[in-house]
Amino acid sequence: MEKLKKLNDICTILFKEDDNYFELSNAIDDLNQLFYETSKIDAGSNAAREDIYLPTGKAIGAFWAAMCVKEMMRTKQFIKGIYKGIKAAQERFEGEPIHVLYAGTGPFATLAVPFTSLFSPREINFTFLEINPESIRLLNNVINTLNIKNYINEIVLCDAAEYKYNKSKPIHMLITETMLNALQKEPQVAITMNLVPQMLKDGILIPQNIRIEAALLNPKKDNYRMAGAKDYDGKCYQIIDTVFDFNKETARQSCGTFPEMELDIPDNIEAGYNELCLLTNIQIFDNVYLANWQCSLNLPKRIMQLKQDASPINKVSFQYILNKSPGFNFKVVS
Ligand SMILES: C[S@@+](CC[C@H](N)C(=O)[O-])C[C@H]1O[C@@H](n2cnc3c(N)ncnc32)[C@H](O)[C@@H]1O
Repeated sequence: MEKLKKLNDICTILFKEDDNYFELSNAIDDLNQLFYETSKIDAGSNAAREDIYLPTGKAIGAFWAAMCVKEMMRTKQFIKGIYKGIKAAQERFEGEPIHVLYAGTGPFATLAVPFTSLFSPREINFTFLEINPESIRLLNNVINTLNIKNYINEIVLCDAAEYKYNKSKPIHMLITETMLNALQKEPQVAITMNLVPQMLKDGILIPQNIRIEAALLNPKKDNYRMAGAKDYDGKCYQIIDTVFDFNKETARQSCGTFPEMELDIPDNIEAGYNELCLLTNIQIFDNVYLANWQCSLNLPKRIMQLKQDASPINKVSFQYILNKSPGFNFKVVS
């Protein structure tokens, strides 16, 4: 099978411990092309471009979800972290085939398919959840062409934030990447909160932790950073504090309302660091992270300009809100 051989070649590069930028960039292009060919996606069709609006956030259309593959660092780090997660699950649940519940597969199940070139169906199997029927139609093309049906228990068309798993197979691992920076607009939190309690207690959640930090950004230095300026020195941001940690424990404990967090704005802000923003640091698994600016999920979310000379802002509160456009509400307290 020529396509399967291609997938194996791509994965050999993706699973390498050390990254060679050009090799990696070519591998991601090849993976994208392989998925385009095998899914037979019609990028221009209305069906592929339609988003779905859910009570817990937006589910992006098949074409937009397909584009995620090309975010090189996102795809690479998720695959690297998931690989470590599978290995850890194999140790934790010795002798058991690892059952992965993957919520929000998009048209390619990008965070699952590469592992079929590394593990046998006796070692790993997947249940796929996806709300978009067009993505599922395309995903079925990928699965059939690559001949990997024996890894898949079921593909369920459902809202993963509501789904109740009623089969006997225990869930060892849960993967979802249904997020934007600062956990805004898409239903990552609601999906995770619904599915984590359905996973084994020692099961592995990917991403393992999503940390939202309030920071002060220096827009001028940020521009220098972007332009790769030679005289760019020092960091373009200063962390103030963690506003939110979202992981297995917080997902289990929360009843749907998250605590409001009051943040003290330092009174000795360094000149130029006057933009309050939220940063998103993603621990995929163990020591595999997606850090600030590494991909679109880690771009700063700008909150407000601080004009500290006239009437200084001392305290701002943040609260994560679950609704049809989830995200952080913020208020100036004093
Ligand atoms: C950002 S894309 C990621 C696609 C793929 N997992 C990847 O990493 O390349 C998110 C996918 O999750 C799906 N999705 C979002 N919310 C969902 C929900 N509540 N239930 C099921 N699927 C959902 C969207 O339709 C979309 O296909």
